[in-house]
Amino acid sequence: MKYSAFFKKELKKLKDEGLYRSFREIDRPIKKFPKADEFKNNKERDVEVWCSNDYLNMSQHPEVVNETVKTLLEIGTGSGGTRNISGTSSFHTSLEKKLANLHNKENALLFSSAYTANQSTLWTLGKKIKNLEIFSDELNHASLIQGIKNSGASCHIFQHNDVDHLESLLETTNPNHPKLIVFESLYSMEGIRSPIIKIVEIAKKYNAMTYLDEVHSVGLYGEKGKGIAVEMKVDQDIDIINGTLAKAFGQMGGYIAASNEIIDYIRSFSPGFIFTTSICPSIAAGANKAIEIVSLAEQLRIKIHDNASTMRQLLESIAIPCIDTNSHIIAVMINDPFLCKKVSEKLIEDHGIYAQPIFYPTVPKGLERLRITVTPKHRKEHIENMVKCLDKVWSNLSLPRKNSTQLQVNN
Ligand SMILES: Cc1ncc(COP(=O)(O)O)c(C=O)c1O
Repeated sequence: MKYSAFFKKELKKLKDEGLYRSFREIDRPIKKFPKADEFKNNKERDVEVWCSNDYLNMSQHPEVVNETVKTLLEIGTGSGGTRNISGTSSFHTSLEKKLANLHNKENALLFSSAYTANQSTLWTLGKKIKNLEIFSDELNHASLIQGIKNSGASCHIFQHNDVDHLESLLETTNPNHPKLIVFESLYSMEGIRSPIIKIVEIAKKYNAMTYLDEVHSVGLYGEKGKGIAVEMKVDQDIDIINGTLAKAFGQMGGYIAASNEIIDYIRSFSPGFIFTTSICPSIAAGANKAIEIVSLAEQLRIKIHDNASTMRQLLESIAIPCIDTNSHIIAVMINDPFLCKKVSEKLIEDHGIYAQPIFYPTVPKGLERLRITVTPKHRKEHIENMVKCLDKVWSNLSLPRKNSTQLQVNN
């Protein structure tokens, strides 16, 4: 085999399909955000960030930064190993307590990312529970899909948020087999919630366990940012909750929260927990602080939702097609990979507005979009200017406005 020819051919194919990814080099100095520094061709210039998942600006909160630096200076950088070898510190255990408390669960377990937490937990359940039948929403995140697929367990994919389809699949499955329903509370590429109450009812009816990814809702929804399961009062009906430290809490790392025995089981059997170095104590300390702040920061939650609603109203007023939700995520539909890249490129090149194009495999082919995120630090004038720039780019590229296009996303 000509290895080099293989790689070249595959990359060319990706480029021909419009699916090749390029990254912008952007630093976000604390004092400037939402303005940031872009580095290109050895030049530096100001841009404005519209696609960060640092939803509540916790990565730049002075108390979080101070706590992280203080720990770094006291303890040093690395954790020293896997949790089994020498990687458990008071910072890890207190963070796990806090996370368990946040989700009203008995216990929690840290992983190096929410991706690893999903992949490794589902792999372990699918591999170890004999005859487990898994039911997975068709728009579930790649980490959930990878965990299920790699486990080799029998998997039934239900149409997105379609409880009737889910139930029809459960009905035709061997009633004696153990079952697990895997879904998200807020789908990140559309900002649409799942029918969580209905899914929990169905799970009870068919004696299925439930696994809920709350990555995009933790910190942002529910009392004290406890997430959508708590907001909808079904937290005690969800067996395993997955979350991240990397979005509303502004750090990195992920976790699951569940009963004592589930956490002990995953801790004991999951390779993605056992065989990798634990997160840095300074990151755990920063996350601890961020959770404390976010729990009390009702004003930040109000602000991000107000900002999202202002932006949505402005986009609506100029008929730019967005997915209709009231979440903090704004998906502007373009439905073509080349045009999507073009819009993103013109926004940054002509107007200094940074919003990455989103295309396959992050979203299905033909449903390419800009995924715009506001934060509490974006002010009204930023939002007005962003919409004005998008309007210009939209007209410049003669893209269809809302009344002349049909949104192709199931709600
Ligand atoms: C729904 C969902 N689950 C899990 C993850 C993984 O999170 P992390 O970045 O902590 O690995 C993501 C990442 O964006 C996500 O969107």
